Formats: sequence, C-alpha cells, structure tokens
Amino acid sequence: MQLPDYKEARKRTREEIKKENYVINQNAINIGLNKTYHVKTYGCQMNEHDTENIEAMLEQLGFVKEDNQDKADLVILNTCSIRENAHNKAFGMLGRLKHLKEETNKDLVIGICGCMAQEEKVVNEIMKKYKFVNFVFGTHNLHRLPYILEEAFKSKKQVIEVFSKEGNIVEGIPVRRASKFKAYVNIMYGCDKFCTYCIVPYTRGKQRSRDKDDILREVKKLVEDGYKEVTLLGQNVNAYGKDFNSSYKMENLLEDVAKTGIERVRFMTSHPWDFTDEMIDVIKKYPNIMPSIHLPVQSGSSKVLKLMGRRYTKEEYITLFDKLRTIPNVSISTDIIVGFPSEDESDFNETLDLVNYCKFDNAYTFIFSPREGTPAEKFKDMTTLHEKEERLYKLNEIMNKYFLESNKKMVGKVVDVLVDGQSEKDGMLCGYTDTNKLINFTGDVDSIGKIVKVEVTDAKTWSLDGKQK
Ligand code: 5AD
Ligand code: SF4
Repeated sequence: MQLPDYKEARKRTREEIKKENYVINQNAINIGLNKTYHVKTYGCQMNEHDTENIEAMLEQLGFVKEDNQDKADLVILNTCSIRENAHNKAFGMLGRLKHLKEETNKDLVIGICGCMAQEEKVVNEIMKKYKFVNFVFGTHNLHRLPYILEEAFKSKKQVIEVFSKEGNIVEGIPVRRASKFKAYVNIMYGCDKFCTYCIVPYTRGKQRSRDKDDILREVKKLVEDGYKEVTLLGQNVNAYGKDFNSSYKMENLLEDVAKTGIERVRFMTSHPWDFTDEMIDVIKKYPNIMPSIHLPVQSGSSKVLKLMGRRYTKEEYITLFDKLRTIPNVSISTDIIVGFPSEDESDFNETLDLVNYCKFDNAYTFIFSPREGTPAEKFKDMTTLHEKEERLYKLNEIMNKYFLESNKKMVGKVVDVLVDGQSEKDGMLCGYTDTNKLINFTGDVDSIGKIVKVEVTDAKTWSLDGKQK
C-alpha cells in the first residue's frame, strides 16, 4: 500500500526528471478476457486525455468497452478535485456503485483514480468508509494500471498505490483516442505556480515539460493518421520548457507544431504571466494556429489577485489582453472566481469593470471553493454564500450579454467549421469554428471529420446556427 502524503506532494526538488518507456505487464495480459470496462471521467481535458490512456491500457489487457456503466465488469472513476462539487459528484457516484455491487453485480470491480486519489483525506475516507472500492491509483502512476489491476484481481484486499511525488515522464503509454480527427497532446505535466486557491500543484506535481521531439513525433503521426486538430495540453502551457532551462520555449514549440501541417492547432491553458510577445507573433504568423485564447483572469481586483498569488495586476492583464486583441479575428475566453476570501463589493465591482472592458467571448465562472491543504483554505472569509451567489449571478448576466454580442457579430459571415458529428438538435450537424464557437448547422453528413464552410444564420448566447455552403 502506498498512500498520498501532502507534505511530499508540496515539495519541489531540483531532481532532474528522466524519461522512461511504458512496458506492458505480461502477467496481466489476459486479465480482461471476457470482461467489460467503463471509465467515467470528471473534470478537465487533462483527465479526458488520461482516460484515453486508461482505456487503451485496459484494451491491451483484453477488456472491452461498455458504454452502459451498469453492465460493466470493471468501473473506474477518473476524478477531479478542483472544486467541492466535483468531489461531491464522484462520492455520489460511489454511492450508486455500492448499490449496484450489493444488489446486482457482486463481482463488480471498482477503481478510483485522478486528482481525488492524490488527496490524503479522500484516500483515508475510502479506506474507512468505502471498503467496496477495489483499487485506488494516483495521477503519477497511471502507467502502473496493469500492475495494480493484476493485484486487485488476485487479492481480495483493497489495493492502494498513490505516489505523492511525481516520477519520471513516461512515454509510449498506449492511447485510445475518443475522436478520429481531434486529438489532445500533452506538452507538460504539473504546475509550479501555486495560486493560493488551487489544488492542482499538489495533485499533479511539479512542472515537467515533455521532450519536444516526443511531442513533434506524436503530432506528425497524428497528421499521417488524418487528424485535423491537435490541442496542446498543460496546466500552464506558456511555461513550456522553463523547467529544463532550455532556450526552446512555447513559441518555438507552437511554431514547430504549426509547421507539421496539421490543419488546426489549439493550446490550453495559458497563464498571463508566461504569455510572451514572441508567442503572439507566432500565432499571427501561422493560419493553422487557431485565433482562440483561453486566458484566465480570476479577478479584476489587484488586491485579490495578489492574495490569489497570480503574479499580475489588473492593469498588467489588460495590457496583455490588448496585445492579444491585435491578433486578427481573435476570440478570448477566461475563468473568474467570485467570493475569494476578502473580496468586497468594491473588488467585485472591479471585476465587473474588467469584464465590461474586455467583453470576453466566453468564460467559466465559479464561486470560490476552499481546497484542503491550500493556503486560501485558511484565509478569513467574511462573505456569505448568499452574497457570493448574488455576485455570480450578476457577473454571469453581464458576461452572457457579451457572449451574445460577440456571437451576433458573426451572423452573415462564412466560417470554417471542423464538423464533430450529429447535433443534439434534430437533423443538424455540429462543430467548432476557428474561434472555438459551437455551431449547429444544416449540412452534409459526409462532412463529419472535415473542415467545411458554414454561413452563420443566427446567434444564441452559447452557440451559433448556420447552414453549410
Ligand atoms: N475554487 C473555485 N474555482 C477554482 N478554480 C481553481 N481552483 C478553484 C477553487 N478552489 C477555477 C479557476 C481555474 C479553473 C480551472 O478552475 O478559475 O482557472
Ligand atoms: Fe492552479 Fe494557478 Fe497552476 Fe492554474 S496556474 S493550475 S490556477 S496553480
């Protein structure tokens, strides 16, 4: 048994990160024969991509995917810790699985992984109260899944293997991509920013950039396989390369990825601190780098930003924002937290001022959720939940107005859309524009997986309507 330990997780050592290759566990190779699996994913794209790795490893061991969780022999919950409601959702699901195991499927094997598995308190709770969970593994030992499964299937005991410190970068983990034309590519793991509210630096470990040659090899293979879009993933992609003190930075990587000829390049998430002018130049230079930037601001009050440990002021954010707006046709989205400890009405009004200035094209807004072990958990918080909910409501009302405004400007234009598939709207297709706006449109089913021209006919707050040209 290897349990998570926050003291270890917090440490940042100078130890060099090495590369190792994934090796399949030969003893586990037939473990999944005649068995099905279902992986339920919570949280961000990083987790979605981890699930693509988990599914491929399971299939190497003979398991077959089952879309209906209630019918699967093995269920894995890939969890998220970012806010309390993500926690609650996963624990709620565990309750359902317990019932399933007791009532209908006694042999059901249940596993938990992802960010919650890295939390000391969660794992202690699972050991005490959720004994029906068969195994737990963390974000740093994803590649060990075949070994953990071997043990879980052999022993009747709960198997827990969570490394608290990040290990090496493991290359060559198999991947079962959810899409045949859009792919996630990790460019870095972990985060060293330690924003005071955020649990990610604890659950995902120190920043480790992948070797550029491995990234470029992966992207080139995707191009060969007919992929149209890659999204370069990391908690703080702009800091790419800073951990190995290389002169090869995000702007160089972005340029080299664009040069592979892939039709669309996206990247997320960006921290304003590391966004360089060189990056902006590269985005402008290559038409296949999508003019869509996610730039979380978190607050419009410099006082709150300081307490959040964000390393920029409101004015510095706006200066960067203005530079980004010089990218032709750019759309800029953001994340905002309301109700951070000590945020008063005047701080909140500064956030509204910033939103009124930036007129974001899209945003994710949250009420501050204290996370165990982070500095902000201990900050004095005088604002009531009711006040926070009112702030969120007010903020969303204003933001929604701008989303609609930004969408309305597109009516009548012809845009490039990478077609994802059938829309939830009857008989329509859906996809995303270069500026990352969702569009539902009437068109040819054969265009799924292709980039086509679509005329925008109507605008809603969160989506566009259109017809294929
Ligand atoms: N409470 C509320 N929102 C949070 N986020 C991260 N940590 C917290 C927290 N403790 C938000 C930030 C981040 C996004 C991914 O989640 O806005 O950018
Ligand atoms: Fe969390 Fe800040 Fe790192 Fe983003 S940059 S993952 S908000 S610590």
